[in-house]
Amino acid sequence: MVTIGVTSRANEEFAPELLAVALYKGESPRDLGEDAAWVVSGGDFGGKTGETALLYGQGGPAPRLLLAGLGEREHFTLEKLRRAAATVARRARTLKLHSAAFSLPAMPDTAIREISRTVAEGARLGLYRFDRHKSAADDHGLETFWLVADEGELQEATEGAGLGAKVTEGTVLARDLANEPSNVATPEYLAERARTIAEKYGMVLDVLDRAGIEEEGLTGLATVGRSASNEPYFIVLEYRGGGDSAPVVLVGKAVTFDSGGISIKPSSGMEDMKFDMSGGAAVLGAMEATGALDLPLNVVALVPATENLPGGDAFKPGDVLQMHSGKTVEIVTTDAEGRLILADALSYARRYEPSAVVDCATLTGACAVALGDHASGLMGNDEDLVAELQTAGETTGERAWPLPLFGEYTEQIKGDTADIKNSGGRRGGALTAGAFLKEFADYPWAHLDVAGTAYGKKGNAYTTKGATGVPARLLVEFLLGRTR
Ligand code: BES
Ligand code: MN
Ligand code: ZN
Repeated sequence: MVTIGVTSRANEEFAPELLAVALYKGESPRDLGEDAAWVVSGGDFGGKTGETALLYGQGGPAPRLLLAGLGEREHFTLEKLRRAAATVARRARTLKLHSAAFSLPAMPDTAIREISRTVAEGARLGLYRFDRHKSAADDHGLETFWLVADEGELQEATEGAGLGAKVTEGTVLARDLANEPSNVATPEYLAERARTIAEKYGMVLDVLDRAGIEEEGLTGLATVGRSASNEPYFIVLEYRGGGDSAPVVLVGKAVTFDSGGISIKPSSGMEDMKFDMSGGAAVLGAMEATGALDLPLNVVALVPATENLPGGDAFKPGDVLQMHSGKTVEIVTTDAEGRLILADALSYARRYEPSAVVDCATLTGACAVALGDHASGLMGNDEDLVAELQTAGETTGERAWPLPLFGEYTEQIKGDTADIKNSGGRRGGALTAGAFLKEFADYPWAHLDVAGTAYGKKGNAYTTKGATGVPARLLVEFLLGRTR
């Protein structure tokens, strides 16, 4: 992975292969030589977001000068800077360079620490690739990405770069886990990766196998996992950095392949259901970052992991389950499996007397229809917690948008033969799923439906086709917020 370095503008020995300078729309470059000024005044480069211009032989510290657009100064966001940094890093890689430098721009009302963190994030995320299953992978990688700061800002910039690198470590892990196909990323594989994190940072890991899951009364997980060809596991990873304080509990859905079960899905596009463990992947990613950042908090990760497959032993529509909490659930469709395994994890979380519980899941196609690729659905029973998460989403560019949990949605999932049913039908599908989970949360709780955001068909400046790692950075930012 690329190393992020920080250096001073005053360093005369510094000679990167490429120097990138970010410019706002319509603003001309200063001190970059006549050609750069001409490229702007001639209209070849307008400074729009995503726009670049490459110049050679400008006589600065580098043989290549790359201008990168930031859009309008008054509409500046850190997200635009993150994208500009990613675009620069990718361009340098395409040019087969070993090093590139990015001159940290001054931003209105923004500390250099945040600017530096954001550029580090953009570069690392932009350079991410998942090619370990390709026999002829492109082995050229950018080795060092330099952030160039003023002499007096070096320390703050270095801190910011370190923060950005650690946070993105979590996203990279989340992407790697989610991109793995279901024959690699089995529930057992996820448990092993949790073990690696636990050992690296001295966290406590408890993994319940099928017998342990049944003994604990995690009926939802036991039932969905009954016909699985790979064994289900309930992963409990505890990080203790916060003394006696009440922990934050993160819950992540990890259905390593969701065929729908007996209520089987149409075959077209079913391959994407390897991504149905993205919530669990993001939670493990957030734990990796939590360990790397040594956060002064207690954080518990709960990851129910299973496949959802049809079979002679599979659960069926019409079945009634008594959940871990004691509530009974009527199965309308075996394809609404995520809420069953999450519900048990939510009631398991009670034992921690948590200060907050946040679950994340690729839970409903309805949420992806409602918000598309651009925001995760955000629901909860605590306004302040929802607001905290929404803010963390804005800061990280992993946007989340609040959706309602009106009592009517709870009415919609009232059971005929049991307390509640696992589907309220097509209308308001994201909300009835949220209302279902709410039945199992008796502490400040919020739910992120990442069905539309955790993976994509296209990618953007810093995501590729496939897993995005969402909402790992959002979760880390939320945790960071709790340390301030
Ligand atoms: N994993 C799916 C949700 C999903 C669908 C995620 C498409 C990403 C893209 C979930 O388990 C599911 O099947 N949900 C059903 C619920 C319905 C049967 C009540 C859905 O959304 O159709
Ligand atoms: Mn499903
Ligand atoms: Zn699912």
